[in-house]
Amino acid sequence: MIYFLILLVLLFPSCTKSESVEEKPDFILRYADNQTADYPTTKAAILFSDLVYERTDGKIKILVYPEAKLGSENEVLEQVVIGGIDFSRFSLGAFADYIKTFEVLELPFLYRDAEHMWRVLDGEIGKYFLDISKSSGAFGLSWFDAGARSFYTRNKVNSLSELSNLRIRVQESDYMSSIVSALGAIAIQIPYSDVYSSLQTLKIDGAENNFPSYVAMGHSEVAMYMLLDEHVRIPEIQVMSSKTYEKLYEANPAYIDIIKECATECALYERELWKQSEQDALNKMKENGVVLTPVSNEEKEYYKKKIANIYESRSEEEKAIIKAIQEL
Ligand code: GCU
Repeated sequence: MIYFLILLVLLFPSCTKSESVEEKPDFILRYADNQTADYPTTKAAILFSDLVYERTDGKIKILVYPEAKLGSENEVLEQVVIGGIDFSRFSLGAFADYIKTFEVLELPFLYRDAEHMWRVLDGEIGKYFLDISKSSGAFGLSWFDAGARSFYTRNKVNSLSELSNLRIRVQESDYMSSIVSALGAIAIQIPYSDVYSSLQTLKIDGAENNFPSYVAMGHSEVAMYMLLDEHVRIPEIQVMSSKTYEKLYEANPAYIDIIKECATECALYERELWKQSEQDALNKMKENGVVLTPVSNEEKEYYKKKIANIYESRSEEEKAIIKAIQEL
């Protein structure tokens, strides 16, 4: 039998070769995410990669690297801008440090609820912000959901006023520091992947994030008290490096349309996954005995006044956008 097979290979080498060799993609690109492999944003990135591969007939292959394997959010942003990494998804907490006007979309207590935020991002304002990102080196493709952020601490805190003088971790952004300091806490900037160990080694007293991140990164095991204050909703932007844009456009302008269309589809998928993951995280928090403390509307109103200077400090042009958001 074996002699027969060897004979076949010798007689028909091209036949066996064509069966085993797949056509190589023209582009192998990299997509970075700092979340775990099963997190909604990563699953959306994988869908994005599959769709692009399929719709470019295998000409563009996108490899997805989760868990900050290509660096922290801020490091990845630097790489995207110079073309070292092709795609990513950023919390505006990180992204706006690079294009300051984006801070307007993550003002504390800005959106009344998730529906309000989506009316803004799905409408003219969202489109305007994606447009202005184009010149920055990170070309905005679509918006992802990241829910509302609340504070959590190692020891019990009963109200926002009790955060005063506690060391609270914030994203690596001076703007995020200013929000948390305005509430009276001491803001400490730490990359996302180091928050768990910082809580564990008592470097910080608490942090703030949405439910899925709080659970996915294990913070709920070491900081079991959560204040349900929802001080900010921070949307996320999916981007392509402008350098990658130029390269693909030059090869075939139709690639850009395909990428945009796949980005829109995977963002809708992320939004669906997000709702479920918020619910799953909340169930897990309850199961594991996390103590959830509600925050009254009066207290939120009090803090809205306390942080009024953050709104006041914006330019006239930005104030007009804020007004349009509030009226939507
Ligand atoms: C969220 C967001 C991340 C971000 C993190 C943080 O989890 O999705 O992109 O890095 O917040 O607090 O740093």
